[in-house]
Amino acid sequence: MMNDILRDASGHLTISGMRADELAAQYGTPLYVYSGEGFVRSFTTFTKSLSEVDARVHYAVKANSAIGILSLLASCGAGADIVSGGEMRRALAAGIPADKIVFSGVGKTDDEIRAALGEGVGQINAESAAEIAHISAIANAMNLQAPVALRVNVNVDPGSHKKISTGQRSTKFGIPVEDGEAAHLYREICANPHIIPRGLAVHIGSQLRNLAPFEMAYQALLEIADSLRAEGLDVPILDLGGGLGIDYEGDSDPDFAAYGALVTRIFANRGYQLGFEPGRCIAADNGVLLVTNLYTKQGEDKRFIITDGAMNDLIRPTLYESYHRIEPVGPQQTATGIADIVGPVCETGDYLGTDRMMPDVPEGSCLAVMSAGAYGAVMMSNYNTRPEAAEIIIYQGQAHILRPRRTVDDLIALEDNPF
Ligand code: LLP
Repeated sequence: MMNDILRDASGHLTISGMRADELAAQYGTPLYVYSGEGFVRSFTTFTKSLSEVDARVHYAVKANSAIGILSLLASCGAGADIVSGGEMRRALAAGIPADKIVFSGVGKTDDEIRAALGEGVGQINAESAAEIAHISAIANAMNLQAPVALRVNVNVDPGSHKKISTGQRSTKFGIPVEDGEAAHLYREICANPHIIPRGLAVHIGSQLRNLAPFEMAYQALLEIADSLRAEGLDVPILDLGGGLGIDYEGDSDPDFAAYGALVTRIFANRGYQLGFEPGRCIAADNGVLLVTNLYTKQGEDKRFIITDGAMNDLIRPTLYESYHRIEPVGPQQTATGIADIVGPVCETGDYLGTDRMMPDVPEGSCLAVMSAGAYGAVMMSNYNTRPEAAEIIIYQGQAHILRPRRTVDDLIALEDNPF
């Protein structure tokens, strides 16, 4: 296993060599802990798998947008895939050059488009004729040319959870290739003096564990790109999106090599510059959420391990029925029965895991929710007026705070009372 979150010789869970129980004692829980070495390794492994094609990797900021993490990835050469003006600010603050930023998303506001053009982002992935009209008008008013790629919808089912599938025609994403719609719009942007056509983009969904849908989507993309080129149009870049899935049930690595081989087989020597927007496969396995058992309660037919971590800290289990391994941070004990690992929030949907074979977990002891480095901290909320968990990163033998624990005072200070 490649990642840096491992058991030491005495069976204690460690993150980049530091013990989880000691970090929890020092920083408190709930606590997100990331491995800096892990992020670097995942990013470089992904990039190396694409060494036979002309690849630019734009890390999908939405997966984990801590500025410290963006900065670490920037030092490895990463660009950024962003979906809001806020993410652009983070990427720039982390030192990612504007020309290595790709702006994706179906609903960019005029202010966001203006800010992106003002900063000189490298590429805007447009998703509708209406959006292109706004980009063109804003570029005209700013007296510059907007670098635009079209995100196409190739009508491929990625076979992932329905809430994170974006490839089908029935979704809000992309411009359909069917009936020549995408080709027609591409011809229009090529003729538009306020736009520099950059190429085509595709992203069919997230957490794809099977490569076949990538193959279908990429072949379809290549077909339309080649036909536009045959008309004499300039199609410099093909942006292949993100989506490569991880192994939440076990601890095997994402199949970077197989993904790289597939991309190479389809695109090598075709004369396109390729863009990539990986998020989960860079971040997920390189973070854990540490929580403390507050109480154990015997229910009708199973135990409830009630922790200080809840759905507001990690919403994936209840939002997508997703599975995260949950393990005591201390040496592994034999399981004694079925348990739900739940939080204090007043909803039955507030769980981190259900029906797990668990050992006895003493009060006050710590559990690690595994593979929580992607779409964990970024999706936190303050439901039940629970301040956000802290985030720390271990790198080169040292723990660094990425984001201090919020306090209730912080939350209340953001509100006005008009009465
Ligand atoms: N590019 C675009 C245009 C995207 O919409 C996304 C993810 C990515 C790249 C990165 O995809 P990845 O490599 O991470 O699969 N919150 C959900 C995942 C939502 C993904 C949204 N878009 C979850 O927790 O599973």
